Amino acid sequence: MIICIGAGPGDIGYLPRRSADLIANADVVAGFNAVIDVVRPLIPDSAQVIQMGYRDQVAQLDEVAKLHHAGKNCVVVFMGDIHFSGFQYLERVERACGHPVETMPGLSSAQVLASRAKVCFDETTFITFHRRGDLTPFKRHLVHVLQDQRNAIVIPCPWDEARSFMPWHIAAYLLENGIPADQQVEVWENLTRGEAEWHGTLAECAEHRCSDMSIMLIRTKTPMASQIEPSHLPTPEQAQ
Ligand SMILES: C[S@@+](CC[C@H](N)C(=O)[O-])C[C@H]1O[C@@H](n2cnc3c(N)ncnc32)[C@H](O)[C@@H]1O
Repeated sequence: MIICIGAGPGDIGYLPRRSADLIANADVVAGFNAVIDVVRPLIPDSAQVIQMGYRDQVAQLDEVAKLHHAGKNCVVVFMGDIHFSGFQYLERVERACGHPVETMPGLSSAQVLASRAKVCFDETTFITFHRRGDLTPFKRHLVHVLQDQRNAIVIPCPWDEARSFMPWHIAAYLLENGIPADQQVEVWENLTRGEAEWHGTLAECAEHRCSDMSIMLIRTKTPMASQIEPSHLPTPEQAQ
């Protein structure tokens, strides 16, 4: 058996109980170094741990696939939730195994941000730049989302100088593409582990620096009006 699970955004308390059980019963636990560190207290002494980084992930996943085909119970652990900014890694796992692999969702940094910043998913679009390939369609989509008066929760790209698309680059790009300079932005760092938050305008965000472990909220300038039924409570005027 092999299964991919989401480890949550950092603090092990955010890991689903079922995922903790899967790790506790695994013969092999694999994942990026930082993610293995999160789940380390749950890994049994008997389990083989396969750690990897960006450079050796393909070779290490081949090793995991070999153990899976030899009948070992394998768990591959992802950061946050697999279904947001995790699908390219999932594709690598499936390519190594040669077949589709079951997934178990985790809690995403985007969900924790939505909770801290009180935004609802219905009126928010999720975009990641933390991916290989052409970012242009995703950049264009972000502009359209904001023009369409929706919030955007955005995972930046922290890689090398040539590719990096961090909150300050994103803000500069949006300003160049006509998004208003006074649009409100929040950048949250290290959610669930020693969090830091920054609030400002898009123009100010272009000057703000933050760490790689950051996620960004760009709020719509015109939030939707409430669409629930009218209140039965008297208005302040009626109460007088
Ligand atoms: C490859 S993406 C994976 C996102 C993950 N699948 C999720 O659902 O949160 C990694 C990026 O997500 C963001 N991220 C993940 N955990 C975070 C946290 N605890 N606080 C802030 N940002 C986080 C950072 O931008 C990080 O570089």
